[in-house]
Amino acid sequence: MSMSASFYSGPIDKRDGLESAQSAFLAHYTRYSSTRQLDELRASEYGRLDQAGHVYLDYTGGSLYAESQVQEHQKMLLANVFGNPHSTNPTSQAATILIQNTRAAILSYFHASPDEYDVVFTQNASGALKLVGESYPFDPGGRFLLTFDNHNSVNGIREYAHARGASVTYAPVLPPDLKIDAMRLDTELGRVTADHHNLFAYPAQSNFSGVQHSLEWVARAQTRGWDVLLDCAAYAPTNALDLCLIHPDFVPISFYKLFGYPTGVGCLLARKEALAKLHRPWFAGGTITVASVQGNRYYLHEGAEGFEDGTLNYLSIPAVEIGLRHIARAGLDSIHQRVMSLTSWLLSELSQLQHMNGVALAHLYGPNSTQDRGGTVAFNFYDPDGHFIDQRVVEHLANQVNISLRTGCFCNPGAGEMALGLSAEQLSSCFVKSIDRFTLDEFRRCIDDRSTGAVRVSLGLVTNFSDVYRFIQFARQFLNRPADDLLTTLS
Ligand SMILES: Cc1ncc(COP(=O)(O)O)c(C=O)c1O
Repeated sequence: MSMSASFYSGPIDKRDGLESAQSAFLAHYTRYSSTRQLDELRASEYGRLDQAGHVYLDYTGGSLYAESQVQEHQKMLLANVFGNPHSTNPTSQAATILIQNTRAAILSYFHASPDEYDVVFTQNASGALKLVGESYPFDPGGRFLLTFDNHNSVNGIREYAHARGASVTYAPVLPPDLKIDAMRLDTELGRVTADHHNLFAYPAQSNFSGVQHSLEWVARAQTRGWDVLLDCAAYAPTNALDLCLIHPDFVPISFYKLFGYPTGVGCLLARKEALAKLHRPWFAGGTITVASVQGNRYYLHEGAEGFEDGTLNYLSIPAVEIGLRHIARAGLDSIHQRVMSLTSWLLSELSQLQHMNGVALAHLYGPNSTQDRGGTVAFNFYDPDGHFIDQRVVEHLANQVNISLRTGCFCNPGAGEMALGLSAEQLSSCFVKSIDRFTLDEFRRCIDDRSTGAVRVSLGLVTNFSDVYRFIQFARQFLNRPADDLLTTLS
C-alpha cells in the first residue's frame, strides 16, 4: 500500500471523534460560543467550502469571499454605467463618487482621521511598500532600520536605501518565539541621525511566525525622530487596527487578505505629513495637475492622487467598501475571538503530539501560546529520530486530502533563517557573488541537510473547529514514521 493511501482521507463522520473533541473544546473555550454567528455565516455564504470538502488553512495567504460580496458587486456593475474617473462626464463622476466613498469607508474602518491620513490606492500591499521605498528621502547619513521578520516586499526597500547611501540595519528577532530583541531594538532606535531621514519598518504580525510585536514601538520610534512603517498586511484581517490610538506614518494593506474579494486592490494608509516628505521618482497620467513637454516641467497632485499612477482599478475599488461592510456585519471582534480560541487549541494539540519514543512531532516557530500572536502558525514535523520531514512531503500529502496549507519561507526569509538556525556565514558562503541566478533547489543543496522552510497553517474569517480538528487528524498520521520513508511519497 502506498504511503499516501494510508493517510487520512474522506469526509469526517461522527465516529472519528470530531463531535466529542468539539464538545470538549466548547467546554474549555467558553467564549467561543459567542461567535456562533460565524458558523451561520459560513453555512449561508461560504457553502462551497464544505460542499467540496475543503479544509482551508491559508488565510494569511488570502482570505475567502462571501457569496453576497460578489453578488452585490455584480448587481452594482450591472445596474450602472461607470466611466474612467479621469474626466467629469456623468459616467466618470459616478465612478469618482464610488472611489471617494471607498476612501472614506477605509479611513472610517481603521478609525483614521481624514485630517491626519490619506488613502493611496495600490494594487496590493507590495505596491504600497514600493511607493514608500522609491519615494522615501533616503540619503547618506540616513537610516533604514527593520526587524528580521519582515516580508520580502519590506526587505526590498533596502535596495532603495542602499542605492541612495543610507545605512541599512536589521534588528533581530529571537528564537524560539521569534519576538523582537527589545534591548537591541531600543539601542538601534536611539542611534537616530538628526538632520537626516530615518525609516523604521516592522510587521504588526509576522506572516511567518504569527508573532505580534508591540504596537507601542510606533510611538517610541516616532518620539526619537523615526518615520514608522507598520506592515499590517497579516495583522489587519483578524485584529482591530485603530489609527486613533497609534499613528504609524505608513501602513500597507491588501484587501483580499481581509475579505477575499476583490484581488488587485490594496492601499497605503499614510499620514499626510509623512506623505508630503516623499519624492516620487517620476510622474504619470493621473498623478499631475500640469505637465509640459516644451516647458519640461510637471506639478504633482497633492496627497494620494500624486501617488496613484494611471487609471485606478475603478470597477474593483467599490467592492472594497462592500467587503468592509461584510466584515463589519460579521464582527471583527468575533472573528478575532474565534481565531484566537482555535489557535490556542491547535497550538496545544500540536505540542502534545509525540512519537512512541517521546520525541515531539512538531517543532513550532513562534510563541507557543496565544499571548502576543495571531492565528498564523509555522512549524516543521520531525520523525522519531529527530530528522525533519521535508515540507514538500507535508504539502503533497495535505493536497491529497484537500487541506490547503502553505510551505516554504512565505516570502519572509529573515524569520525563516532565525527559526531554522541558519547563520550569516552559512548563507554568505551560498550566495557566491559571481552567480547571478540561484534557484531554490540550488539553495537547498547548498545549505545541505537543513530545512529551508516550514509548514504554515493560518486561520481566519470563517475557520471552524472542524478545520483545525481535521488538520490535527492529518498531523497524527506522521507519528512514528521515518522521514526517509515519507520522502518516497514524492516520487
Ligand atoms: C506581512 C505581509 N506584508 C506584505 C505582504 C505582501 O502582500 P501582497 O502580496 O498582497 O502584496 C504580505 C503577503 O503575504 C504579508 O503577509
